[in-house]
Amino acid sequence: MPFDAMSFDPRTSFGPMVAATYDEQPTGDEEAAVARLAQLAGDGPALELAIGTGRIALPLAATGLRVDGIELSQSMIEQLRAKPGGDALAVTCGDMAVVELPDRYRLVYIVFNSLMNLLTQDEQVECVANAARHLTDDGVFVVENVVPDPMYGLRQERDGIDQYVDAMHIAADRVSVEAGRFDRVTQRVDKCHIGFTGEGIQLHPLALRYVWPSELDLMARLAGLRLRARWGGWSGEPFDARSVRHVSVYGR
Ligand SMILES: C[S@@+](CC[C@H](N)C(=O)[O-])C[C@H]1O[C@@H](n2cnc3c(N)ncnc32)[C@H](O)[C@@H]1O
Repeated sequence: MPFDAMSFDPRTSFGPMVAATYDEQPTGDEEAAVARLAQLAGDGPALELAIGTGRIALPLAATGLRVDGIELSQSMIEQLRAKPGGDALAVTCGDMAVVELPDRYRLVYIVFNSLMNLLTQDEQVECVANAARHLTDDGVFVVENVVPDPMYGLRQERDGIDQYVDAMHIAADRVSVEAGRFDRVTQRVDKCHIGFTGEGIQLHPLALRYVWPSELDLMARLAGLRLRARWGGWSGEPFDARSVRHVSVYGR
């Protein structure tokens, strides 16, 4: 059962409050991600879909590569602009599934599960096709995404709805919990990141649609692309049955 559409518009998920604190919890593998993307980009240029605050794009641009971006949230773009080098990137505000830019790129990439911010299979298919449209003939499309299965490990059922609660961060002055429910028919997840601090409780709702690696491969095929490599992480870890995420490389 998705969030009540009247009380929450998923397109506002990355508003001013989330954007202001977004960079406080980096994933820790930024360096490896940038090194891998720089290697795949060759002489560039590169395009990041859902560029956010430039967590990856800014250090990638610092290697000397031209990096452009598409991003839906004006608040995330403002955070990017405020950082050193943030003014130099060409970022288009809009929906990554439909925005069409005039240039073609040696590397188009989408990381940190951002493809899942598109809430239907149709929109995800459209986004992969849009990525393919922006590639040079020898270009590659790179996707970093979670493998959905581990979520099922947390599953409890209540009134026929799959749901979970996960403690993400526990410290003396702050506890963060994620509570979510998911629909295995639509693959939609509606969740809330809940922060408990001395100042009170903060709620950050988010809606996603999870996507299987094999499903993504078919979306890529629909767009005329084939899987060229798949790893379990940015450092080339093998992808196997235990992998909790994948880094996938597609080309023509
Ligand atoms: C998890 S954040 C990732 C940001 C950045 N790529 C990173 O790795 O830190 C997801 C981003 O996707 C953006 N986003 C969500 N839907 C989008 C859409 N339809 N088109 C473009 N960006 C979108 C959000 O505003 C947010 O900045």
